[in-house]
Amino acid sequence: MKDKISVLYTEEEVNARIKELGEEISRDYAGRSVHLVGILKGATFFTCELAKRITVPVTLDFMSVSSYGNSTESSGVVKINKDLDEPIEGLDVLVVEDIVDTGNTLSYLLDNLGKRGSASVKLCALLNKPERRLKDVNVDYTGFIIPDAFVVGYGLDYAQKYRNLPYIGIIE
Ligand code: IMP
Ligand code: MG
Repeated sequence: MKDKISVLYTEEEVNARIKELGEEISRDYAGRSVHLVGILKGATFFTCELAKRITVPVTLDFMSVSSYGNSTESSGVVKINKDLDEPIEGLDVLVVEDIVDTGNTLSYLLDNLGKRGSASVKLCALLNKPERRLKDVNVDYTGFIIPDAFVVGYGLDYAQKYRNLPYIGIIE
């Protein structure tokens, strides 16, 4: 059966917002470099687009984590499937994530990365669903605050589908 998807943010709206985030990050990190840590797979599209809009020196790494549970509910138990390639000691780390939902994944991840001797660890999330929060997570840069709906596109999936949609949509 074909899923019905309605547009929440168009490609133009998403890209315009990412450009603004890039400008804000460039101002905040002026005179420094920023080490982007993209969270696979959902944040790949966002990480690439954001990196292009940052004007201070950027380095990149990726990490893959999963929380045990089914495709739409996270359980709170997080597993690292792929760790960083490089150590982050002394670096200004900016974690780039697609969405903060319950906060389970990011609360674990920020805690984990915080113990590795970096100069700083901040978080940039394209989407933020505060209504769903179970664990407190400080989101330093938010693309869009969205209501409690299941969204796809721009990297976000439903059962691994729709990551390649250039816009953000809601599954009806
Ligand atoms: P958490 O609940 O904050 O730990 O979010 C865990 C992960 O669930 C996110 O990184 C996404 O991969 C996924 N997720 C949460 N909400 C959505 C959604 O609306 N669409 C697609 N994936 C989602
Ligand atoms: Mg994710």
